[in-house]
This record gives sequence, structure tokens and C-alpha cells, in this order.
Amino acid sequence: MQPASACARRGCIPWQGILLAVSLLTFWNPQPTGQLTIEPVPVDAAEGTDVLLLVHNASENVVGYTWFKGNITDSRHQIVSYSILTQTATPGTAFSGRETIYPNGSLLFVNVTQEDTGSYTLQTTRNDFSNEVATGEFRVHVSLLTFWNPQPTAQLTIEPMPVDAAEGTDVLLLAHNASENVLGYTWFKGDMTERRHQIVSYSILTQTATPGTAFSGRETIYPNGSLLFVNVTQEDTGFYTLQTTRNDFRQPRLHLRVSSKGN
Ligand SMILES: *[C@@H]1O[C@H](CO)[C@@H](O)[C@H](O)[C@H]1NC(C)=O
Ligand SMILES: *[C@@H]1O[C@H](CO)[C@@H](O)[C@H](O)[C@H]1NC(C)=O
Ligand SMILES: *[C@@H]1O[C@H](CO)[C@@H](O)[C@H](O)[C@H]1NC(C)=O
Ligand SMILES: *[C@@H]1O[C@H](CO)[C@@H](O)[C@H](O)[C@H]1NC(C)=O
Ligand SMILES: *[C@@H]1O[C@H](CO)[C@@H](O)[C@H](O)[C@H]1NC(C)=O
Ligand SMILES: *[C@@H]1O[C@H](CO)[C@@H](O)[C@H](O)[C@H]1NC(C)=O
Ligand SMILES: *[C@@H]1O[C@H](CO)[C@@H](O)[C@H](O)[C@H]1NC(C)=O
Repeated sequence: MQPASACARRGCIPWQGILLAVSLLTFWNPQPTGQLTIEPVPVDAAEGTDVLLLVHNASENVVGYTWFKGNITDSRHQIVSYSILTQTATPGTAFSGRETIYPNGSLLFVNVTQEDTGSYTLQTTRNDFSNEVATGEFRVHVSLLTFWNPQPTAQLTIEPMPVDAAEGTDVLLLAHNASENVLGYTWFKGDMTERRHQIVSYSILTQTATPGTAFSGRETIYPNGSLLFVNVTQEDTGFYTLQTTRNDFRQPRLHLRVSSKGN
């Protein structure tokens, strides 16, 4: 009788439908937050390196893991899921090909790019169909990996400090083994000693530095020939050549480039 009058006012909802709706609500109700945590290693990674998102304190009755890009559990942002029962990984729409999921749920990213910066959400599914969610985040910075091609016969060498410098930091190009007979130094951008690519030169006789056409204002040359770059940018990527002024010419070359692969 009473169900019939409810029916007249609102339209019919069969009993079974109501029960189903209630059970679905219970099913998807977020569980009280567990201790599931994500630990990114490292939190701040150089571009081209690897990041591991470690899963801590997953409950023992977990039967599956699903990773999402962002602070969201939306299937459009699904990277990969793993079923412990079938021991299979299933890539999602946000899978880039650089992610590997392990049976313990941890997710490995290889060769990270700046676009990988951000949060990642893990949803675990337990054998009672309840689930837990945790989010972690990491950052990827551009790194200027420095390479130096030594010329076997030259004693003069250049050593970049640091070898792996993030954009916006400073790099010192150390000149080693400069001969005592050196009268001056000239730094060039590129692998040629062309005047239009001259950054700065230094005369030991007059103790003066002379900026060239390729001088950006961020370089400082020292009396020992070393060159300090402040606030490096991606545009600083490239070869650098040091020429010493004396009876002969020795031109060790240095290659500064933006990292795009693991070191
Ligand atoms: C795991 O859970 C325990 C108990 O809540 C907590 O003390 C511990 O810090 C957690 N470990 C991690 C890595 O989150
Ligand atoms: C994820 O989003 C929720 C609500 O939108 C917020 O409370 C939480 O702090 C966020 N977590 C992270 C790691 O950004
Ligand atoms: C999960 O497995 C990976 C790969 O075997 C391992 O490197 C990582 O340490 C494991 N995670 C935890 C939290 O033990
Ligand atoms: C300086 O030159 C010597 C002799 O060629 C060489 O053994 C040494 O490694 C050089 N030092 C540096 C820092 O390049
Ligand atoms: C050259 O001078 C700079 C500035 O004083 C110093 O930091 C650097 O260590 C010196 N280079 C060498 C090879 O000693
Ligand atoms: C570094 O360079 C960026 C642009 O390339 C500029 O916005 C920033 O102010 C510079 N920082 C310093 C400390 O000079
Ligand atoms: C890393 O990614 C860059 C592009 O982002 C690609 O050029 C390079 O080959 C990749 N390296 C490896 C080892 O996959």
C-alpha cells in the first residue's frame, strides 16, 4: 500500500533497485584513510633520469593496483593497472611506454621529462572490493649535462663544475694545466675559434677582460682562464672552445648540452 503511494508521486522505484543503490553507495564509499603512502625517489629528478614511486603500507588483502596521472582517479588518466591475481599489467590511456609497475605496486618511470612533473595517484583494490587512494608528486628539472672531449695530446683541459647543473644555476668551466707561458685566454661559443662567436678574452699582460660579440653578460673570466656562467639557460647548450694565446694553439672543447637521456 505505502509503496504504491510513493510510486504515484515520484514514479516507481522497484525495491531491488533501491537495495542495489544502497549497496553501491557502500561499495564506493571512501574507506577511512589508511596509511597507504607514496614515496617518490627522488622527489626532484634531473630530466632523462629515472624515478621510482614506492608504495608503502598497502594492506595485505590488496588484489590490484591502478596508477593515475594527477590527483584524480579518472579512467582517462589511467597509466597502468596491475592484478595480483592474474599477475598481469594493463596499460591505460595515460601510459607513455616509460612506466613499469611491479607486483608490490611501485611504479618506475624511466627517462623522465619535464612533462612528467606533477602528482600521481595510486588506487589499491582489496579482496573485499574496498579501495584506498594515495597521491605522491615529483618534479623534473632540466639538467645541463656537461661533456668535454679531451684532445689526447693537449695538456690543457676544461672541467665543468658541476657536471650536472640545473637551469638557473651556475657553471664554472675550470681551465686546468694552462701553461705558464700563456699570455691570454679566449672563450668561444661553438667548436670554432671564429671572432663572431667570441664570448670574452683575457690578457694576462694587461689583466683586462674584453667581451666579444657572443658575450651574454652572464660570463666572468678569471685570470687563470676559468669561465663562470651564472644563471644558465637551455640556450647555453652547445660547444665551448678555449683558446690560449702563446706560441702554439691548443683548443680543448667542451660540450654543454641539455640532458635528454640518462647519464
Ligand atoms: C606505515 O604505517 C605505520 C602505522 O600507521 C606508520 O607508523 C608508518 O610511518 C607508515 N610507513 C610509511 C612509510 O608510511
Ligand atoms: C588532492 O586533492 C585533494 C582534494 O582536491 C586535496 O585535499 C589533496 O591535498 C590533494 N593532494 C595532493 C597531493 O595534491
Ligand atoms: C617494490 O619492488 C621494486 C622492484 O622490485 C623495488 O625496487 C621496491 O623497493 C619495492 N618497493 C618496496 C616498497 O619495497
Ligand atoms: C695535466 O697534465 C698532465 C700531463 O699531461 C696530466 O697527467 C694531467 O691529468 C693533467 N691534469 C688535468 C686536470 O687535466
Ligand atoms: C680559477 O679561478 C677561479 C676563481 O678564483 C677558481 O674558482 C678556480 O678554482 C680556479 N681554477 C683552477 C683550475 O684553479
Ligand atoms: C635568470 O634568468 C631568467 C631568465 O632566463 C630570469 O628570469 C631570472 O631573473 C634570472 N635570475 C637571476 C638571478 O639573474
Ligand atoms: C629519452 O627521451 C628522449 C626524448 O625525451 C629521447 O630522445 C631519448 O632517446 C630517450 N632515451 C632513452 C634511453 O630512452
